[in-house]
Amino acid sequence: MHKIDVLIGLQWGDEGKGKIVDVLTPDYDVIARFQGGPNAGHSLEFNEIKHVLHTIPSGIFHKQKINLIGNGVVIDPVVFKQEAQALESLGVLPADSIHISNKAHLILPSHRILDAASEAVKGETRIGSTLKGIGPTYMDKTGRNGLRIGDIILPGFYDKYRYLKNKHMDILRQYDYKDDPEKYEEEWFQGIEKIKTCKLVDSEHFINHLINDKKRILAEGAQGTLLDIDFGSYPYVTSSSTICAGACTGLGIAPSRIGEVLGVFKAYCTRVGGGPFPTELHDETGTRLREQGMEFGSTTGRPRRCGWLDLPSLKYSIMINGVTQLIITKSDVLTGFDKIKVCTAYKTPDKVIDYLPFDTSQPLEPLYKEMKGWSKDISAIEDCSQLPDEFMSYINYIEEETGVPVTMISLGPSRKAIVYPQK
Ligand code: GDP
Ligand code: IMO
Ligand code: MG
Repeated sequence: MHKIDVLIGLQWGDEGKGKIVDVLTPDYDVIARFQGGPNAGHSLEFNEIKHVLHTIPSGIFHKQKINLIGNGVVIDPVVFKQEAQALESLGVLPADSIHISNKAHLILPSHRILDAASEAVKGETRIGSTLKGIGPTYMDKTGRNGLRIGDIILPGFYDKYRYLKNKHMDILRQYDYKDDPEKYEEEWFQGIEKIKTCKLVDSEHFINHLINDKKRILAEGAQGTLLDIDFGSYPYVTSSSTICAGACTGLGIAPSRIGEVLGVFKAYCTRVGGGPFPTELHDETGTRLREQGMEFGSTTGRPRRCGWLDLPSLKYSIMINGVTQLIITKSDVLTGFDKIKVCTAYKTPDKVIDYLPFDTSQPLEPLYKEMKGWSKDISAIEDCSQLPDEFMSYINYIEEETGVPVTMISLGPSRKAIVYPQK
């Protein structure tokens, strides 16, 4: 049976998924996003230029590919238009290759305002949302109030828009939150016109036809497994299914159609926003990781929290997604550290455990294995045989612990900085 491959983030997002999808795109005919929305920031770098994509799949820079935005994605027309125009200025024409599901939901200006109002009242317990309106839009989806892409070409769209906006205004009055969605409406409706220039499709039929035609398809995950609505560190999560199973519901493909599951993880850990992060470093090592890794958000510019690799969490993500291949990114960032640590278990007040417990408010001390670092600059290496032994020991240890092979090693932000371990 012809299958599709799924690429997933295994940590708290920003693992370098965009770069890897861009590198892999030549091997595929179709790149499909299946969840999330403009909370995602996927960076790609080639010819010394960095591009950040939010809604548009990371296959967009390769010619003759289909880029599909699936039903599980939420779309802000304003962000979409800005992204599309930035691509057009580079000679890439989104209208040629982008297909958008009629069933994808729309983020209204009032969803964004609701997101901000909801975060504002939470104070210290705020999630640290990207404030792109993600939570409120998925709430309207499951609450059966949402507006979808297919609605934009139907009669009565404006009335439906106004009805939902007024509903949001009623809620906003309870928050006593002052921002007026009408300020953003003109731009929003211009975005809707931009969306109409793309191909609007019944994407579940579209993608299944492509599968039947034996097209090679890669589903591109956004966020990461530890931000998943069910399996992430709830409530400090996003509002969608970021895991492999999300590709089935976010595209309309059967579980039996899933082929390789490519799990992307950083050589260390980062997190933006609130929530538990057992290996977080508040010392100069954390600052060094942030500076060497340039760990500042692609979407919000916020400094990312940094810490050592967390093996129990990585194993958990591998289990949830059924990962068949591991892809490690940002290995170059660890160059120059005398010692590299990997968390192997957590110590609670009464026992040692190798999984993140339900109650993360209790003290949780990470237990570390210490490994020798390397000082050789690995960022320009083109062949695995030139990688330092200490680095390969790190990779081998991860493979042994997880039981999954590392099939790609990313050594820098550029498209070219990638090596494939010989097996
Ligand atoms: P995504 O959301 O998973 O696509 O990741 P982001 O693009 O938000 O964040 C990853 C950041 O690391 C971006 O700035 C990338 O350009 C950069 N990056 C990706 N892979 C590597 C790598 O192997 N080494 C280094 N130094 N940077 C990388
Ligand atoms: P990519 O695809 C990293 C985080 C936010 C916040 C929480 C909820 O670039 O890896 P939301 O706006 O979704 O309501 O925010 O999730 N978050 C991300 N962190 N990378 C992302 O996407 C993220 N998308 C959301 O910082 O903590
Ligand atoms: Mg990102």
